[in-house]
Amino acid sequence: MQLSLIGSADKVVFLNGDGSIDVGSLSAVSARNEKFRALMQHATEMDNKKNNKEKEDDEDEDGGSIEKVISGKQFNIKEEEERAVNMIKFDVAKVYIKLASGVFNFTFLPLIFILFTLYAFFGIFSNTWLSFWVAHKFEGKGDHFYMGLYICFGFLTVIVTVLGYSLVTYGTVTSSRKLNIKAVQNVMRLPMSYVDVTPVGRIFNRFTKDTDVLDNEFSEQMQDIISIFSTIIGSLILCIIYLPWFAIAVPPLLVMFTLITGYFQATAREVKRLEAVQRSSVYSQFGESLSGMSTIKAYKSEKRFLKTVDNTIDKMNEAYYLVNAGQRYLSVNLTILVASLSLLVGLLCCFRVFSIDAASTGLLLTYVMEISNSFVLLFRISTQVENQMNSVERLKYYAVNLPQEAPAHITSAAPPPSWPEYGGIKFENVSLRYREGLPYALKNMSIEVKPHEKIGVCGRTGAGKSTLTACIYRLSEPEGLITIDGVDISKLGLAELRTKL
Ligand SMILES: Nc1ncnc2c1ncn2[C@@H]1O[C@H](COP(=O)(O)OP(=O)(O)OP(=O)(O)O)[C@@H](O)[C@H]1O
Ligand SMILES: [Mg+2]
Repeated sequence: MQLSLIGSADKVVFLNGDGSIDVGSLSAVSARNEKFRALMQHATEMDNKKNNKEKEDDEDEDGGSIEKVISGKQFNIKEEEERAVNMIKFDVAKVYIKLASGVFNFTFLPLIFILFTLYAFFGIFSNTWLSFWVAHKFEGKGDHFYMGLYICFGFLTVIVTVLGYSLVTYGTVTSSRKLNIKAVQNVMRLPMSYVDVTPVGRIFNRFTKDTDVLDNEFSEQMQDIISIFSTIIGSLILCIIYLPWFAIAVPPLLVMFTLITGYFQATAREVKRLEAVQRSSVYSQFGESLSGMSTIKAYKSEKRFLKTVDNTIDKMNEAYYLVNAGQRYLSVNLTILVASLSLLVGLLCCFRVFSIDAASTGLLLTYVMEISNSFVLLFRISTQVENQMNSVERLKYYAVNLPQEAPAHITSAAPPPSWPEYGGIKFENVSLRYREGLPYALKNMSIEVKPHEKIGVCGRTGAGKSTLTACIYRLSEPEGLITIDGVDISKLGLAELRTKL
């Protein structure tokens, strides 16, 4: 229905449908004509519904994909924002971890925690040991003592690293496999009404891209994020052990970190979106020029088109430049933050606030400097993980929340093995609609087909012939009573019903 331009019309002619017509300005006709008002009302509702549906589609698929911009849809800023606020949804994480635990059950998380604490500890302590060695901290011990223990720490580091990483890999792979299997099972038992309204591409996406993300990328990022995180915490603890006053600096440090990254994140999201929009206009420009090549050549407009494409590429790079600038902003600020931290540690050491030797000072400064890189890395990976969580969420939705058909097997109501023997079918007041909100395809239908009777059903197209079969197979659940050889089919398990027919 195209009523969007009706506001600009000088005069509206409305056919009442009973042979009479109503002519006048928009306001006049809508004031005096009930039917016209109903039509306008209906049109606005349809529009709203359509908009909402598009919004859902946008929300459902990945952020700002290219086709979306080409088709001229607006980006939905509000929903994106909301998504970013509750970065990792708690229930998604809960389901994911529960599935990941596998044979380890509730020991899974504590095990990961312990292994990565040890990982950070051994990693850092083997270096600390070096500083002990340089300072010959323990009286009367030879080089062999230091060397032996150093090698020992090295081995321990390797062992916990292997164990820790294996455990994370085990968890992510298990979770991904279980989610996938559950999702496939659920898709197999989707009600027809859901399949009718869901684009196949969307379902495919779950089993291609989202599964791939879970199988490959997510597992890697999880390993990185946990190890980097534990290293950062380990470094901070190391600093606090050497310089207890350093503990005072940690909360402000975290606050500053959150502020800086939050500020960056808010800007980066918008700028990225700008870039996506500009990039797609480059693609569409390019595509149009390619397909219209002969026309462009015929009109000798090559120069003009070259210029427009150049312009759009420039526009895209403007946004791209900002993306880069934002990243520079982030690293400069984080580096300043960490530099001031190093300064603090340096001063604390130089002015001998704590009795600390040269070797330990060196060690501390090395770790503090490294924190800066770790922070930037941690931040970058956590942004990716945030995106990948969407895949987890989508697959989890398919594995847990999909609507399902009636149960496949109901043993208590299983029909006798010989059923149906005679083929007597009885419909009593059967109505069926394919989905909630659609008109009934069958209304209050009652027929009886006697055993061994052969019948033919005739009717014009759309009369409901195929719907009769749909009722018997319960592709959608019919209202009313259908019995076959005296058995009420609505009480049967779907698998039993469908295999017998
Ligand atoms: N999957 C579906 N979802 C929604 N409505 C449907 C669906 N299948 C059929 N309908 C509607 O149900 C009504 C009956 O359709 P049905 O397919 O039973 O007609 P038919 O008599 O088999 O027609 P034909 O001779 O074309 O096969 C039609 O109005 C049709 O639009
Ligand atoms: Mg048919």
